[in-house]
Amino acid sequence: MERMQTALGDQPVGVFDSGMGGVSVLREIRAQLPQEDVLYFGDTAHAPYGTKPPAEVMDRVRQVMALLMDRGVKAVVIACNTATSVAAATLRAELTLPIIGMEPALKPASQLRHGGRVLVMATPLTLRLPKFQALMARYGEGAQPLPCPGLMELVEEGELDGPEVEDYLARLLEPYLNASLDAVVLGCTHYVFLRPALRRMLPPETALLDGNAGTVRQLHRVLEQRGLLRATQCPGRVELYTSGDPDTVLPQMQRLLDLPDMDETAR
Ligand code: DGL
Repeated sequence: MERMQTALGDQPVGVFDSGMGGVSVLREIRAQLPQEDVLYFGDTAHAPYGTKPPAEVMDRVRQVMALLMDRGVKAVVIACNTATSVAAATLRAELTLPIIGMEPALKPASQLRHGGRVLVMATPLTLRLPKFQALMARYGEGAQPLPCPGLMELVEEGELDGPEVEDYLARLLEPYLNASLDAVVLGCTHYVFLRPALRRMLPPETALLDGNAGTVRQLHRVLEQRGLLRATQCPGRVELYTSGDPDTVLPQMQRLLDLPDMDETAR
């Protein structure tokens, strides 16, 4: 039994997203759980998920899950708010494999609120689905959902800080910058890479929150509870895969993985 557990603990953690956004979660896994091997899959050929019908996203998620499970992953992190909202509950009902999902960090944002507004940036699909509606009903006082169609595409193109991103964000945020703004929630893993651009535009007292650190703490807890933590001090290996063109996508993913810390408050 002991030996079986060790062998399973040595299997990689599967992490996936519609593209490169989940690399922001992968960065957090490397920071918190550096000994884990990770197999990352970006479903670039079928991105974006956030403007597709839920059934189409569900179909893609099933295919990606099958691919990761074929590789013997010991747990899966759905490093995508959109895919989590569509598929996590169904997958958990069907599989015994641990599945860790994400949701916009509206709960911690509501705790930081001092009577001002909280903006929730996410994909149109995330904001439409029951999971987010339930979150809003509980923690949504003063919160304003902001669908951001087209924003993940800029991140996929490597536009993290240029004029196109600035224009997009300026147009999005302009109506809210004059009133008291307590927090902005990054409810899509792609947007985490826009922290430096957002930080420049937002008042210094506005908190910028994402769910990455909490998601990885949850991964840690689940692996620990199931005896699945990798028992070694050696740094784990990361393998990157994409359904898109590997020659263009993989170097860009690697660049995002190697970026310096984007904002210490992220952790
Ligand atoms: N990165 C994904 C998320 O966290 C979604 C991007 C997309 O495919 O639209 O929601």
